[in-house]
Amino acid sequence: MDEKITIINLHKSFGQQVVFSGLHLSVYAGEILCIIGKSGSGKSVLLKHCIGILKPDSGSILVDGQKFSNDDSDASIIKKFGVLFQGGALFDSMNVYDNIAFPLRRQGASEEIIAQKIPELLAHVGLKGIEARMSSELSGGIQKRVALARAIAKNPEIMLYDEPTTGVDPINSGSLYRLIAYMQKTFHVTSVIVTHDMRLAFTIADRIAMLHDGTIIAEGTPQQIKECQDTVVQQFVSGKAAV
Ligand SMILES: Nc1ncnc2c1ncn2[C@@H]1O[C@H](COP(=O)(O)OP(=O)(O)OP(=O)(O)O)[C@@H](O)[C@H]1O
Ligand SMILES: [Mg+2]
Repeated sequence: MDEKITIINLHKSFGQQVVFSGLHLSVYAGEILCIIGKSGSGKSVLLKHCIGILKPDSGSILVDGQKFSNDDSDASIIKKFGVLFQGGALFDSMNVYDNIAFPLRRQGASEEIIAQKIPELLAHVGLKGIEARMSSELSGGIQKRVALARAIAKNPEIMLYDEPTTGVDPINSGSLYRLIAYMQKTFHVTSVIVTHDMRLAFTIADRIAMLHDGTIIAEGTPQQIKECQDTVVQQFVSGKAAV
């Protein structure tokens, strides 16, 4: 299987605090990989390494076999990603239309193309006709869906989701799972989801990887993770660990 993202022997510390101590992980083309781990284990930091916002102390991150190099070629790697940040991160002072238009305008798309694309994107996330609403008036769940439309607008090859269901009630979480799976099928992306929502991981992941103490301590299909004998994994999966 083709590797979309390859993380090799990643080390990262902030001052005295070691976040990664030799982490290896592969993300395969077309899969949904869920990365689970308790709060503070480094899930968001890992995603930030994938898109080059944070740099490794040592080790490497390859995207389609290409390494970040701190020059212009990095832009072509970054372009492959659509990201749903923890917290949605819409621009409060903009309406829905301008929020979704933002990445398209930055890419230099014409206003005519944008005007055609936005209703289509909103239809994909089940939110037709809300172009004029201000982001600040929308509920958390709706904001996540708008943020998803914005992330997919650039036709990314890889979607990264940071805690997509946090702050969303269980019923709306269910529809968000379906939406993520729908995006996967419709846009043929590769998806990496970091979450402590085990229901999400077991519902939609092709594979699950558990991050703990600076490395990936277990990875496999949802079934393999359920059957994993490791105590830390078991506690986390059964919800017995403090998160
Ligand atoms: N820019 C930074 N500077 C210093 N420390 C940081 C920075 N970013 C993250 N950290 C620290 O690295 C550790 C991992 O943080 P991270 O945000 O990746 O955790 P997480 O697994 O995403 O947690 P949560 O589930 O709560 O979102 C934390 O202890 C955090 O305080
Ligand atoms: Mg986080």
